[in-house]
Amino acid sequence: MSPATVEPKPSAKGDELILTETDGNVGILRINRPKVLNALNPELMTMLATQMEAFDTDPKIHVILLAGSERAWAAGADIGDMAERSTFEMYQRDQFATWDRIARIKKPIVAAVSGYALGGGCELMMMCDIVVAADNAQIGQPEINLGVMPGAGGTQRLTRAIGKALAMDVILSGRTLSAKEALDAGLVSRVVPKEHWYSAALKLAQELAKKAPLALQLAKEAVLKAHELNLSQGILHERKLFYMLFATEDQKEGMRAFAEKRKAVFKGR
Ligand code: CAA
Repeated sequence: MSPATVEPKPSAKGDELILTETDGNVGILRINRPKVLNALNPELMTMLATQMEAFDTDPKIHVILLAGSERAWAAGADIGDMAERSTFEMYQRDQFATWDRIARIKKPIVAAVSGYALGGGCELMMMCDIVVAADNAQIGQPEINLGVMPGAGGTQRLTRAIGKALAMDVILSGRTLSAKEALDAGLVSRVVPKEHWYSAALKLAQELAKKAPLALQLAKEAVLKAHELNLSQGILHERKLFYMLFATEDQKEGMRAFAEKRKAVFKGR
């Protein structure tokens, strides 16, 4: 059953780079530079990382929803901001270091992706945990057409996500993948009709927000380790996290509720 269409709330002020709101236990962030298709400049990325960290430490927030607009999730890093910079300037300001702060967020991040997810937009999408893509999504790493290459993790995360053959094709040719191709390749996990691009992702975030928050966070941590550790290290890490959850009230509640044939009520402790 498709979710009812819920439009994101309009911006109260027109000039905020990131729009922030909460919906129950979901913290919602929306990228808001419509005139440049949500191009990601350093100021915006610093705000995004700061807002995410605020949600990450707020016990009322269990899940983060990150959305762009219907036309564009994000069309890349801001080309105008980089075009005339020297190697030294790029190295010294190291703009992509800020992005690492988003990779360290512990709570699950659901991405609501509609329209363009290109370059840095694709890289930001890959830093999220579950991607809900609208059927109009166009996803790719077109940096090659600018005489450069992905610089915010694209060559690494895309290759891990979809394998060398397709990653090499996408990165060297600069072509975009449709939502269907991205789904088939395992780059996104759900594709929805474009009119539900936001409501479907919000519904998913709300569903996740009802799960035990610590289990969500540790499960996210374990899955991400699969990219970094070898199999036996990853399994050992997973096992320790699994045992750790037995220190939580939510584990007792979840397993008792199952035995008592009722719905578990998790408290986040
Ligand atoms: N940076 C800055 N401005 C951008 C932008 C970007 N990444 N993408 C789009 N814009 C701006 C355009 O310059 C344009 O501004 P003006 O109205 O002032 O001319 C506005 O957004 C609308 O864009 P278009 O008129 O081009 O819209 P379109 O519908 O004809 O095309 C598009 C859409 C195919 C996405 C096209 O805008 C495009 O190709 N954008 C660039 C995509 C790209 O190369 N991204 C990679 C950036 S580099 C990077 O991300 C490095 C990294 O690894 C982090």
